[in-house]
Amino acid sequence: MAEVLPVRLYGDPVLRRKARPVQDFSSVAELAENMVETMFEYGGVGLAAPQVGMATRLFVAAEYSFEEEEAEADEGAHPRSMLKNLYVMVNPRITYREGTQVGTEGCLSIPGVYSDDVPRDLQVRVEYQDVTGEPRELEAEGYLARVIQHELDHLEGVLFLDRIPPELRRPFMEEHRAELAEMQRKAKAFLRDLKARQG
Ligand code: NI
Repeated sequence: MAEVLPVRLYGDPVLRRKARPVQDFSSVAELAENMVETMFEYGGVGLAAPQVGMATRLFVAAEYSFEEEEAEADEGAHPRSMLKNLYVMVNPRITYREGTQVGTEGCLSIPGVYSDDVPRDLQVRVEYQDVTGEPRELEAEGYLARVIQHELDHLEGVLFLDRIPPELRRPFMEEHRAELAEMQRKAKAFLRDLKARQG
């Protein structure tokens, strides 16, 4: 049975660490399964391992059979029945990028905070390994390309907030100051509890 894992919040240092490459694939399938379960439970379109406290180079992403505009208009509602493709990407890297797009992003680690001003490459080619270590390649554009870039950023300790152009970022951070401070407080409390439970 796949397990829903707690999602780490903004302020948790694991979200700022550069993740390590996966070398041992023995527990990758199980971790990926739990991450997929967690992504569905939280209503996300992607989830990277650091968001569940694992600083390893792995993320999951879902593609749904409704339009991007509907998905954006209905944040958090991504029913499993509408799933078109599910990706598990281990040790991913972008080997080709072209064009630009500006669009809306949020993050399960920064709940309730969205920016409409996140620039990304329009098309990407990503090389990665599947859960068994087999090399794979995917070309993506538009919304899926955006999701892949967002998740790959997580493996570098980068959040979508960091991608907002500087002149817009300052007012954005100011606008969401209280929410972000509350997340940082919760992240600290979570880590305190975790430490206490682990003795
Ligand atoms: Ni995210």
